[in-house]
Amino acid sequence: MELIESPSDLRAALRGAGSVGFVPTMGYLHDGHASLVARARAENDRVVVSVFVNPLQFGPGEDLARYPRDLDRDRRVAAGAGADLLFVPHPEALYPAGFATRVEVGGPSEGLEGASRPGHFSGVATVVLKLLNLVSPTRAYFGEKDWQQLAVVRRVVRDLNVPVEIVGCPTVREESGLARSSRNSYLTGEQQTRAAVLARALRAAQDAHARGAGRAESILGAAREVLATEREVQLDYLALVDALDLTPLDAVTDPASARLLVAARLFGVRLIDNMPLVPEPQGASGLPTRQPGGTA
Ligand code: PAF
Repeated sequence: MELIESPSDLRAALRGAGSVGFVPTMGYLHDGHASLVARARAENDRVVVSVFVNPLQFGPGEDLARYPRDLDRDRRVAAGAGADLLFVPHPEALYPAGFATRVEVGGPSEGLEGASRPGHFSGVATVVLKLLNLVSPTRAYFGEKDWQQLAVVRRVVRDLNVPVEIVGCPTVREESGLARSSRNSYLTGEQQTRAAVLARALRAAQDAHARGAGRAESILGAAREVLATEREVQLDYLALVDALDLTPLDAVTDPASARLLVAARLFGVRLIDNMPLVPEPQGASGLPTRQPGGTA
């Protein structure tokens, strides 16, 4: 696997490459990232992984300075999962002096993470568009763990006619149910086990719906009861939303298009998780067949 730092070397390395699968990351790669790389490997001639901790998507007081970084580990995980190229640009290469352009996204970026982290999705959309322009991939792979981010990226690609297929990949979980995240490294083993309360709460909401609950109030009430069992949980939001446009639902009319999302601070670390309202068979992707902004 080749490590490339400059955008011009990247372009040269990808000239005449055939189909290109791209996995953008902020590094500190774990099994969740490896599953994206493996999927990209299976579906493309060449696979590029980028590692870039994007300052634009961190707000003041967030964890930019302490975000975990380990390039040796990233090389190992990316190569082990089948990447051909690891693109590790310097911040000045992506944001040169005088950089003054931002991608602002409405729709799915409003509310939830967008409300809690002002400017976050603009930072994500800006860097993702830059990376897509630099790599020109056939397909780009994103984890469903960041469900709202996936919806935002799909919307940017659709609205700005970016010629790439966006592929959403299922969340990889610990045995406890905790969704894999680079930020889990801030927690001890015991804290990680306790943080799995977020996943248990979402499952309780799924169960409540399966038992017949149809209003958000009672579905989310079941999740709240589970969250209340862990004193460390400082809930940011718990929501039942339309899976594509992220608008809140009061009642479930189309269960296949409903998604549960949660964000909470535990042990000083902000964690997010999400699940479909109706559990999927193992390995299936949670994307409803309806396209963003479409009707069928
Ligand atoms: O999900 C992430 O790791 C980041 O938000 C992304 C998509 C790499 C953009 O910086």
